[in-house]
Amino acid sequence: MSIDVYLNGEFLPVEEAKISVTDRGFLFGDGVYEVIPVYGGHLFQLQHHLQRLHNSLRGIGMVSPHTDDEWKQILMRLTAQLGDSDQALYLQVTRGCTDVRDHAWPQDIEPTIYARTKILKTPTIEEKRRGIHAITLDDPRWEHCSIKAITLLANVMARHEAADAGAQEAILIRDGAATEGAASNLFIVKEKLLITPPKSDSLLPGITREIVLELAKQHGIPYAEASISADDLQSADEIWMSSSTKEILPVLKLNGQRVGNGAAGKIWEEMTLLYESCKDRLRKGEQL
Ligand code: PDD
Repeated sequence: MSIDVYLNGEFLPVEEAKISVTDRGFLFGDGVYEVIPVYGGHLFQLQHHLQRLHNSLRGIGMVSPHTDDEWKQILMRLTAQLGDSDQALYLQVTRGCTDVRDHAWPQDIEPTIYARTKILKTPTIEEKRRGIHAITLDDPRWEHCSIKAITLLANVMARHEAADAGAQEAILIRDGAATEGAASNLFIVKEKLLITPPKSDSLLPGITREIVLELAKQHGIPYAEASISADDLQSADEIWMSSSTKEILPVLKLNGQRVGNGAAGKIWEEMTLLYESCKDRLRKGEQL
């Protein structure tokens, strides 16, 4: 049995990892999480993930139970268990256990800290090039989507509706604007301009989104952080979805209609190569 879990100070195999039924994460979805990709045993953009974790914790009235150095030690020790493989590291902090089931929480409560690492098999470039299908749906979520909360029922329902429609992702529309996917950020290309919605309470500030913008800046790809209307989406030359585990995927069909010329676009090809080279540099242990 491999040691793939960290739970409240212990490293143990998943079979032995148990939490209480009084945990507020279990009862209320009262907690936050991160998903951090690991390439060649190296954590990708760890500092950005920790910063977002701090922001999410602050957003739900918690303080981080660990300093960044402590987090780093815990997460590096856990990922070292799987050697220098590519991994997806899941980290979750819930408010902890309360014997009385009350929506309001008591002050003296110890958080539950859980992390699990798993081998990550990202799609090859050829697989990615085959693209995905997406549908648009009205966004029924709350107004704090920038918090990476474990309370994901609306996202789960949206992704399920997409799957029922034969698609892999749902693009959410709020007040006439496309904001993000059920579990990914949104980019479009229009007349060679790469566009993603600006950060706001309507979307999660994705770490992959941030890297894509940074790479666009470094390599002279024109980009803008601007609102994307439902019409912009329909007439886009390219649509991409980004996330830590799926990386950057081209959407080739939207609501059953072809996107652009129906193939992965030129700018997606360029960005994907840039992204791959970041991963390769990290695998060699280079600082990004
Ligand atoms: N989800 N928006 C939402 C709603 C997400 O759930 C995610 C990622 C993103 C992309 O963020 P990042 O680039 O930091 O992964 C955007 C993760 C992967 C998940 O829930 O498994």
